[in-house]
Amino acid sequence: MAPGGKIRRIGVLTGGGDCPGLNAVIRAVVKTAIGSYRLSVVGFENGFGGLIQNRARDLTMNDVVGILPRGGTILGTTNRDNPFKYQMVINGQKVFRDVSDRVIENINIQGIDALIVIGGDGSLSIARELYEKKGLPVVGVPKTIDNDLSATDQTFGFDTALNTATEAIDKLHTTAESHHRVMVLEVMGRYAGWIALEAGIAGGADVILIPEIPFSMDTVYEKINQRRDNGKLFSIVVAAEGAKALGGEIVVQRMVEESFDPIRLGGIGNVVARQIEEATGMESRVTVLGHLQRGGTPTAFDRILSTRYGAGAVNLVMSGNFGEMVCLRTPNIQSVPLADAVGEIRLVPKDGDMVRTAKQVGICFGD
Ligand code: F6P
Repeated sequence: MAPGGKIRRIGVLTGGGDCPGLNAVIRAVVKTAIGSYRLSVVGFENGFGGLIQNRARDLTMNDVVGILPRGGTILGTTNRDNPFKYQMVINGQKVFRDVSDRVIENINIQGIDALIVIGGDGSLSIARELYEKKGLPVVGVPKTIDNDLSATDQTFGFDTALNTATEAIDKLHTTAESHHRVMVLEVMGRYAGWIALEAGIAGGADVILIPEIPFSMDTVYEKINQRRDNGKLFSIVVAAEGAKALGGEIVVQRMVEESFDPIRLGGIGNVVARQIEEATGMESRVTVLGHLQRGGTPTAFDRILSTRYGAGAVNLVMSGNFGEMVCLRTPNIQSVPLADAVGEIRLVPKDGDMVRTAKQVGICFGD
């Protein structure tokens, strides 16, 4: 840190999966830091990897021109490269090492007084460890399309993913109606059902399957058969990737040991579509929306939230609130300790207002 604890130069990185609004946060950080506080800004490339390997570049006002509506991140990102559990190959063997001292060395080489970490649960947990174990002055910004961070009303990126998923349901409706099919849409969200729930309500789904409410396929068949008996020769099913049948297991694609998020979910859509076809005799098709949910231009809501988070993060740095994360406490941007922000996932309350309303308008959750 600069003499007298003064903040002169800050670092920023984006970690974990990409997400609409990352560039809008970077832009707001740079504009606020340079424009309001006369600081200089360094961007680390590819998440914590850049911090470990000292891959960094200065970010100027020019570097952030035109990036507000752009998806992705100009800094690059990865959900690997945890400095406390860094994968190396020694004597042909894959091993994990704590290289967090290297992070501190590189922070000093870059002459950085504070670091802003823009990330989800995994990246913010690492940020917390760097703060608590290494004394690094860190501030966090909550990112994820999953909207599953407990300490904020909303993460940036969720609104865009929700709109993408809703548009997908609208489009699937036309094929479902024309071909008299059951269309199953599998959406992301990890262990939380926010995308499925909200897109399902917004898109008028008939069945929504979420991790918080284990489902029975018999209840799903009943709903689809009932619709057919009433002359509705199609149905729309939205399945969260983390949804599971009563007494069943989450469907896992594969394990990725070196990732912050070693369990790669996916496949529930296919399982459900096959079972519906077998049980009801109705042709059933599946669409896995996948990374389309993370791409594209952020919605106006996400651009505004990202901008407020980016400026808010610099304000936290300037007021010395290290080890904290900006959060939305509607209608204000506030902050919470990183320790309260990570670890506990924000799940859909299964008896909450949103699920109740969905059930009142006839949506089946398979329970
Ligand atoms: O956390 C965001 C998210 O998109 C999840 O919804 C999903 O399970 C995961 O990331 C997919 O990550 P990857 O980019 O490794 O496929």
